Amino acid sequence: MISLEDVSYTYPQSKGPAVKNINLNIREKEFVAIMGRNGSGKSTLTRLLNGLLLPNAGEVTIDGLSSLNLENLVEIRKRVGLLFPDPDSQLLSNLVEEEIAFGPENLGLHPLEIRKRVDTALKMVSMEDYAKYPPYLLSGGQKQKLCIASLLAMQPAYLVLDEPFSMLDPRGRKDLLTLLLTMRQDLNISLILITHSLEDAIQADRIVIMDKGEVIHAGPPGEILNMGTSISSLGIEPLELSSFIEQLEQEAGIDIAQDIANIESMVEAICRLS
Ligand SMILES: Nc1ncnc2c1ncn2[C@@H]1O[C@H](COP(=O)(O)OP(=O)(O)O)[C@@H](O)[C@H]1O
Ligand SMILES: [Mg+2]
Repeated sequence: MISLEDVSYTYPQSKGPAVKNINLNIREKEFVAIMGRNGSGKSTLTRLLNGLLLPNAGEVTIDGLSSLNLENLVEIRKRVGLLFPDPDSQLLSNLVEEEIAFGPENLGLHPLEIRKRVDTALKMVSMEDYAKYPPYLLSGGQKQKLCIASLLAMQPAYLVLDEPFSMLDPRGRKDLLTLLLTMRQDLNISLILITHSLEDAIQADRIVIMDKGEVIHAGPPGEILNMGTSISSLGIEPLELSSFIEQLEQEAGIDIAQDIANIESMVEAICRLS
């Protein structure tokens, strides 16, 4: 479990805290989506989860290991993989397979074990054919997948993805989300996904909403859907269905449950009305 207890962080030379008084537990195998407007502290939170930033107050523990104890940091970074929004900033090697081998090499693993991990990671993201390819020639979506493969080669227990879809077209986005959900099933890892898309977030077990550095809501997706279009006051774009459901109610007096997440359940609900 990743556990945050009263965690606050202020950047050096910054006046106010970027995140404050965060209390949050993320369980093994859980899928948590984190949402909130720009500047609400989401990226800062991700860096606190893997010890890239250390809390000024409170404590972050990963499977019982506190990030405040510097001796724990290597182990923490092994357990918590962090994907940044911009893949180009993370790619350092000349070949795809070198990129993936980089982390395991730093762990001092046996060459055979490294080879195995590289091959497995490539297979997981369906990029076996690109092993000898230079990363800079890959598409945006492939670069994201390569970064994910590099993280997987470390065999993390938690994968934190900071807006991984922001550079992708709708097709690439859908593919990547499907890949992440499959990985979670197959590898039993926790997913912590920062996203602006409610459509993606409602696939999670729990949605955490941040505002002004604080967690202002944490609960199952149904709770967020029940807020309907009023969620936009928190900087989150509601599902298109939400305004449709509200219009039905206001203009036709037809009352349908708010927590409907897709067209299929909408059609079912409408059919039940007659
Ligand atoms: N490296 C930094 N130095 C100083 N302030 C920062 C830095 N990164 C982010 N901040 C500030 O911290 C707050 C939270 O930012 P961030 O965590 O990036 O939010 P989000 O990811 O939700 O957009 C913002 O006010 C932002 O300006
Ligand atoms: Mg951010």
